[in-house]
Amino acid sequence: MILPYLNPSLPTQQRIDDLVERMTLDEKIGQLNQIFATPESEERDKEMIRQGQVGSRILAFSAHAGNDETEADAYTPLWEFQRIAVEESRLGIPLIFGRDVIHGHLTVYPIPLAQAASWDIELVEAAAKATASEAVSDFVHWTFAPMLDIARDPRWGRVIEGSGEDPYLCSQMAKAQIRGFQGEDTSAPGSMVACAKHFVGYGAVEGGRDYNTIEVTENTLRNTYLPPFKAAVDAGVGTIMCAFNDWNGIPCSANGYLLNTILRNEWGFDGYVISDWDSIKGMVEHGSVEDAAVAGQHAIQAGVDMEMPGHCFATHLRQQVAEGTVSEATVDQAVRRILRIKFMAGLFEEPFVKVRKQQPKGLKSEHRQLARKLAAESMVLLKNNEDALPLANDDNCTICLIGPLIHARRELLGNWTLDGRPEDTVTIAEGLAQLRPDLKIAPADAAVDAQIRLARKSDQVILVVGEDHFRNGENANIADITLPAGQAQLIDAIHAIGKPIILVVCSGRPLVLTDIEPKVDAILWAWHPGSEGGNAIADILSGNVNPSGKLPITFPRATGQIPIYYNYKNTCRPVDDYYGEDSRYQDQVGKPMYRFGFGLSYTHFEYSNFTLDRSQMLTDECITASIQIKNTGKASGFEVVQCYLRDVVASTIRPVRELKGFQRIHLKSGESKTVQFSFSESDLAFYGADNQQRTEPGEFQLWIGPDSSATIGGKFYFKQSKDSNIATERQACLNPDPSFC
Ligand code: NOJ
Repeated sequence: MILPYLNPSLPTQQRIDDLVERMTLDEKIGQLNQIFATPESEERDKEMIRQGQVGSRILAFSAHAGNDETEADAYTPLWEFQRIAVEESRLGIPLIFGRDVIHGHLTVYPIPLAQAASWDIELVEAAAKATASEAVSDFVHWTFAPMLDIARDPRWGRVIEGSGEDPYLCSQMAKAQIRGFQGEDTSAPGSMVACAKHFVGYGAVEGGRDYNTIEVTENTLRNTYLPPFKAAVDAGVGTIMCAFNDWNGIPCSANGYLLNTILRNEWGFDGYVISDWDSIKGMVEHGSVEDAAVAGQHAIQAGVDMEMPGHCFATHLRQQVAEGTVSEATVDQAVRRILRIKFMAGLFEEPFVKVRKQQPKGLKSEHRQLARKLAAESMVLLKNNEDALPLANDDNCTICLIGPLIHARRELLGNWTLDGRPEDTVTIAEGLAQLRPDLKIAPADAAVDAQIRLARKSDQVILVVGEDHFRNGENANIADITLPAGQAQLIDAIHAIGKPIILVVCSGRPLVLTDIEPKVDAILWAWHPGSEGGNAIADILSGNVNPSGKLPITFPRATGQIPIYYNYKNTCRPVDDYYGEDSRYQDQVGKPMYRFGFGLSYTHFEYSNFTLDRSQMLTDECITASIQIKNTGKASGFEVVQCYLRDVVASTIRPVRELKGFQRIHLKSGESKTVQFSFSESDLAFYGADNQQRTEPGEFQLWIGPDSSATIGGKFYFKQSKDSNIATERQACLNPDPSFC
């Protein structure tokens, strides 16, 4: 007879109950243990699996896999490990294999910060789905993505891994990525479990120094840092990773208020929480506990279920349960949460590879197309003096391509790319050569002087500069966010000989361009664009694709302007658009170099006919703002229409404006469309001084426009009724069907 926990036709809860009932304490503790395996530890690891002492394996060799060149080797021998778990361990509980599959697997998509610049929810979801389909074929059941840390300090190396500075945009990206990774059914072929990380506040590390402390009030936590995680939970994310940092003096790996009170009790999260690598033991270094045993005790009691390599649970829990310092019920609860996700992922039915076939040698053409499209959509045109771009089709104009990154492969893939192969990457030189066979390309070994001589002989120069893939990422912070050494001088040298410069910048973070901008005719911010980066850059420069990317993060004029972000709280010296005379520095203007939401196109969009359908909104009502957008230029293109809101007077200070909606629309030359945004009471809600979600009556201002400086708009008054219930209003008035546009 088939044991109940192995019977897929029984309800999951019944299967979990049956299995937990059969488990010894050691087997339970084993489920909470994630190991990493090296060739040297293989025999010991197999024995531990056989004994039921392992619940998961991370496919990485070190705590900062993103910056480790050897990570591609971390796969062996997965099949054998799983076979031992299901065939030779007493209960046959499958392992769950996790890996940092962050922005692509074999096919690499642009870095997450770049994906956010596309503002294209469907495409970001499609990329995550394609990523999952490749990764599961390599035995990855679970990815440690998406990273949902709001990041407002580009010195922080991990700014590349998230969606930038804004809670709303980050929440939309979170939902898209989770839908893409997990699909409708996480047990289906091609789906994998997602992990929202790092819970919470990691993006606020002081001075952008990785692993540092944060100072974030509960009010800011709830209004700014938590919303993307709430969106992830609402989207059904299977797991959450807690952060290295503390919040309110308590490390996130033992912060019961965050993990139990907010995540589980308030939000109803029913997946499991994993620590970060060694983050439980890290509490000893934090100085919040005396030793690893107490660290483990605090972590499990605060709601951490699985320990990423660190061994506090595996080494000490047995004795702690025997002594009564940790109850077996607490262990059971963690085991149940882990088993629930293993059942949900279908691991008991299909413990091996869900998509059984060999990975292709090259990349799938449909994944390449997707990567090319997303890379092109994510690029942001920051300057285009006198229509320097797209490149003119003029036989008399010679164009050259120079710069340190034109033949780069690995660098284009970006940080946190463990499996993307440099040999599958299209370089910028290759991409452009296909579209412009007449292009003069500096050879890979050309010295700087030779590149300058080539520029001198040309009429126009495409100069590619930027960061390599290890200048950002985990623990890769920089104190001065300027271009890497020597690149500004190269720009100066070309400028000095009077050649028009098309500057292409590949980077994982915003960089300061204040002195460079006046010396160049056009700037294309290409980020780290992934496997199809070279083709995507060629698509934009040639005009085959009209740029539509918009910045998901503010670009400062100087490192000293940091922090600078569009949605700061209103001050006693109010200004509408970043910082005014009273709060700027004496040696710098108050505005940034490029604002949040900014990005140019090869065409022009004109905004007009703004209307609000009512001037007063009651609790049960929706308010709808409309605007007409016309493509007044010659090229057809996409525009990201953005809607911002301000709560003019509230019991706690609110941001000067907050993004509340966006739509990406296509307009042919001469075409007009009307775009609408509808809001209900829940869209006006915020967390007040009591840290409860609330809405307050009064005046609201709303703007619609092409970036965060939007000036066209109007105001309305909100009046609350007694039975207002903000939690249930949301569904009542979603934005109109996109087909409207
Ligand atoms: C530490 C990082 O903070 C986390 O994001 C990552 O998933 C783990 N290392 C595993 O590589």
